[in-house]
Amino acid sequence: MQALKRVLVSLQAYRFIVLGAFASLLLLTAANAVTPQLFRWGIDQGIAQQDLQVVFYSAVLMVVVAIGRGLFNFGQSFWSEQASQEVAYDLRNKIFNKIQNLSFSYHDQAQTSQLLTRITSDVEQIRSFVGTSLIQVVGSVVTLVSVAIILLIMNWQLALITLVLVPIAALLLANFLVKNQALFGQVQEQLGDLNAVLQENLFGVRVVKAFVREPVERSRYTKLNDELMAVNMQTISAIRNTFPLIFLISNLITVVVIGYGGAQVIGGTFTIGELVAFNSYLLFILQPILLIGFAAPVIAQAAASAERVYEVVDAQIEIRDRPDAVPFEKCGGRIAFENVHFRYPGASTEALKGISFETKPKELIAILGMTGSGKSTIINLLPRFYDVTEGAIRIDGRDVRDVQLESLRSRIGIVFQETTLFSGTLRDNIAYAVPDAPIEQVIEVAKTAQIHDFISSLPDGYNTIVGERGVGLSGGQKQRIAIARTLLTDYKILILDDSTSAVDAKTAAEIQDALDHLMQQHTCTSFVIAQRITTVRNADRILLIDKGQLVAQGTHEELMRRSPLYGSILESQVKKHSLV
Ligand SMILES: Nc1ncnc2c1ncn2[C@@H]1O[C@H](COP(=O)(O)OP(=O)(O)OP(=O)(O)O)[C@@H](O)[C@H]1O
Ligand SMILES: [Mg+2]
Repeated sequence: MQALKRVLVSLQAYRFIVLGAFASLLLLTAANAVTPQLFRWGIDQGIAQQDLQVVFYSAVLMVVVAIGRGLFNFGQSFWSEQASQEVAYDLRNKIFNKIQNLSFSYHDQAQTSQLLTRITSDVEQIRSFVGTSLIQVVGSVVTLVSVAIILLIMNWQLALITLVLVPIAALLLANFLVKNQALFGQVQEQLGDLNAVLQENLFGVRVVKAFVREPVERSRYTKLNDELMAVNMQTISAIRNTFPLIFLISNLITVVVIGYGGAQVIGGTFTIGELVAFNSYLLFILQPILLIGFAAPVIAQAAASAERVYEVVDAQIEIRDRPDAVPFEKCGGRIAFENVHFRYPGASTEALKGISFETKPKELIAILGMTGSGKSTIINLLPRFYDVTEGAIRIDGRDVRDVQLESLRSRIGIVFQETTLFSGTLRDNIAYAVPDAPIEQVIEVAKTAQIHDFISSLPDGYNTIVGERGVGLSGGQKQRIAIARTLLTDYKILILDDSTSAVDAKTAAEIQDALDHLMQQHTCTSFVIAQRITTVRNADRILLIDKGQLVAQGTHEELMRRSPLYGSILESQVKKHSLV
């Protein structure tokens, strides 16, 4: 409920729209309240007194009031829907911005599908609460209170009998809300789980087919779908269980009003017009109670959704600028790891155990090690995708945590081990970080990455559209586009993580040659993680990593002499190549 309160507070930004809705609501309530009085007047002063003029006037007034009711009803629902759209719009943007700002460690642990569900379905639940239920509940309360007062003035004995219904209904609803709050959260959770399977299957559809796992995936999806159905049915029966009792009580009350009120009319203490009016007001007691009843599940659902949404909005951003952070300006090329320890959040062992080294200006550093030894982890720490758990990383003597994140990352050109492209043209993909780069520049980096010839051979050239995540390109082509994309940025430190693993040896060597030239010109330091002996040989220095530790460093020749591990890694490489 705390989360719902925040939704209400966020409505402050749209106070004029909300005010419009609320004003319409008050006018609507007034128009509703006046109508039975017109009945009473028409019957008692018109029909009973045989005064045709009063009958006529009361009818005309009723028409006028009816038109007003239509207008106010429109205003009320239009403005509340508008406010709800604004709130949903804000929330979607808020979550998206937050997702953009959250650190790698959050995304390592968060389920994409749960995030998707929050930004779509949960926001929609909140929107529907703000758009319909909120105004319904407020309107119902206003109507209940004003009609209760009118009834008490008209006939307090009858009114008291009627109003017994209110506390009973209120109790039932409160009970319903308290009992089922968790249930509605569960619905959203289940929906997220279901979407997880859906998403995995969409991403992995090729793997599923290759392994002929369609039946298994189908039954996995169906099972979750069944579970979602089950919780949904549970909520429906919870809703339906609450209301029949309220209907029953309300019917009994109508009987009492007609019976007891009728007796009073015969006894002469109550007029027929008053009885008719009173009976019409009953509708204005029952309707709000029912509306609140219908709104209750929506409120419970929205409360659960709001909690899930604010959980993301409030998530701690672990990696952010320090208040006194300075921009990354010149890079001298001295990158120092000082006794760096690192443990991935939630992991039981350290991925890096006391790594120390320092680079010299313009050095090309190769990082070599067995798979899982911690090579990617080392380079993930430099742009602060994660922060060290112990020790420090300094660039020219300044801790990376004291540098403004944006300037740090924009000066580090990184080609990830796993290539992600976006849907769009090849040119858009290469110019991802510099969308207004002239085509000449795009072509230049494409040439360096040895992908220009391929792109030129396509009928649409640089305007060729690639599918989601680069569908339509080979692994090596994707990697080379990723290299070109990085080369187009204003990098000072270049990091290539296994970025030519899917490229043939000859092309890789050509890329390397072209890069060597660039590195000399543009960078202060470069890191390359590669399995290939040729790449490693080229490096000024090789860092040999084993199980999170730096076990040896030096040039190729030095390591050949000193390190048996180096020898064995290279040997496996040579073997691999002789197989080709
Ligand atoms: N996001 C993560 N969360 C938890 N543990 C991780 C994460 N990424 C990597 N690890 C663990 O950290 C260790 C080092 O992984 P890393 O990716 O640095 O290896 P690598 O040397 O780059 O291997 P490869 O040559 O296969 O790319 C591994 O044991 C891995 O299981
Ligand atoms: Mg790696």
